[in-house]
Amino acid sequence: MRHLMRPLDFSVEELNALFDLAKDIEFNRAKYAHACDGKILATCFYEPSTRTRLSFESAMLSLGGQVLGFASASSSSAAKGESVSDTIRTVSCFADICAMRHPKEGAPMVAAAKSKIPVINAGDGGHQHPTQTLTDLLTIRSLKGRLDNFTIGFCGDLKFGRTVHSLIHALVRYENINFVFISPDELKVPDYIIDELKEHNIPYEEVISLEEHIGELDLLYMTRVQRERFFNEEDYVRLKDFYILDKKKMEKAKEDMLVLHPLPRVNEISVEIDDDPRAVYFDQVQYGKYVRMALILTLLDIKVD
Ligand code: NCD
Repeated sequence: MRHLMRPLDFSVEELNALFDLAKDIEFNRAKYAHACDGKILATCFYEPSTRTRLSFESAMLSLGGQVLGFASASSSSAAKGESVSDTIRTVSCFADICAMRHPKEGAPMVAAAKSKIPVINAGDGGHQHPTQTLTDLLTIRSLKGRLDNFTIGFCGDLKFGRTVHSLIHALVRYENINFVFISPDELKVPDYIIDELKEHNIPYEEVISLEEHIGELDLLYMTRVQRERFFNEEDYVRLKDFYILDKKKMEKAKEDMLVLHPLPRVNEISVEIDDDPRAVYFDQVQYGKYVRMALILTLLDIKVD
């Protein structure tokens, strides 16, 4: 039995196979419509979510399976003090696969250790978010045609943004990627990630100005300031509008630079950008469903001819 806790749980070859499967699903939906007949996905979400939970549920329903679960800790027995280990033992009796999101780093790993069914980490605190990374990689591969040879800028909350941590972690394995980290000093990428880049001799820059660096980028990954992970509201208020991507800044960007964002967006991308063909954050959401369909099939070891 296999779980997905971190993006590197899959080798580059396995990821390629997963993305090929996601592409086949995109173009041959009918072929997969009954692939998961009789199977049940549990979504155990101890933290808010719109896209991740609904895309998992939509993915399973489109594969012919069924879904159950809870959307907040307050509506589960966690509110009574139940541990994730006990919850997953219970869920293992009701479902074939589980996607779990939790505010505590490592909680899905604790669950996986006690689970009788595959567990997917759907985001653990400020740590990792592997299925968003699969979504991001499939989007880049589909729209750029490659996963190597580019300069990617990460902008915003690089300290608490788990989607940022997961994507950097995954990109380290591809050739000739340059990282430009754009953040205020208070929200820089954690040291453990910088150490990993140094260890692999991967070029990176840490800068503050988006305007000065946007012209160098092939991809711009914007992120929201993670209010829920701040220790005090004052710091959040001071930093929340530090970056706002608008038309004026986009004029300085390459004509084929893509703007990605895991969403939800708050103020960091002006809505005036939404119609720019380089803005692909809503395409990302669609790719997220296909890649989750591919992931469910892969972890349940279901083959469709
Ligand atoms: C992200 C998350 O939950 O980490 N959202 C998502 O899953 N697409 C990003 C965020 O909340 O800022």
